Amino acid sequence: MQSGFANRMHIGLIMDGNGRWATARGLPRVRGHQAGVKAIRPVVEAAAEAGVGTLTLYAFSSDNWRRPAAEVSGLMALLGRYLREEIATLARSGVRLGFIGRRDRLPAGLAARIAEAERETAGAERLHLRIAFDYSARDAILAAALQAAQAAQAGPGLSREAFSRLVTGDGAPDVDLLIRTGGEQRLSDFLLWECAYAELLFLDRMWPDFGPADLTQALARFARRERRFGEVPEAAVAA
Ligand code: FPP
Repeated sequence: MQSGFANRMHIGLIMDGNGRWATARGLPRVRGHQAGVKAIRPVVEAAAEAGVGTLTLYAFSSDNWRRPAAEVSGLMALLGRYLREEIATLARSGVRLGFIGRRDRLPAGLAARIAEAERETAGAERLHLRIAFDYSARDAILAAALQAAQAAQAGPGLSREAFSRLVTGDGAPDVDLLIRTGGEQRLSDFLLWECAYAELLFLDRMWPDFGPADLTQALARFARRERRFGEVPEAAVAA
């Protein structure tokens, strides 16, 4: 469960543009993903420094299985390497690592490494870093609906909060700010339930070029947004 992270900000990040970043440099797409992995550490540190509670990174969607086999296996290998190389640093800097998405289609060794990484960082409380891997928001909502239907047979229906816990799996709060790099303006089956009132920020920068300064700027833009959650602004009520 999420405990201390739940009252702090949640940022969702769609790390798009690795392929185009590589192609523009005459490199194979997998080199873009390598550069994309490198970009993660400074952004995670900057998020923790800024007091963000939860950061969810979209690393592999369930639809990404349809990519060429070499790219898929390249992404699996990169995740394995990321876990090998980053766990100690993450644990030291107070980052709890969690995964959302299916694990049963991943190579057995990778699934075991994910479980190990989650165990090793379970006590950290500075930032909850969630990686969405073989993830589909629609599948997560469908799985929650099936569980809710079963629960409804045994008793009264579920509250919205209880259903949210089924969808997120780990009690993560709603997304406050959703950032997508790479210039596209869509959600691509990412955290659809959790983004109900998220502020959306679509940036042209390709993910490998995204750094701490971009995160700081994104947070400043977020701070200027007026979030109303369907209510009327106070000034309008007084008028
Ligand atoms: C989208 O870029 C990016 C992905 C599908 C994968 C994101 C993955 C990483 C940053 C690296 C893997 C992360 C971990 C933690 C192992 P794209 O390939 O769709 O780029 P394009 O839109 O330019 O083609």
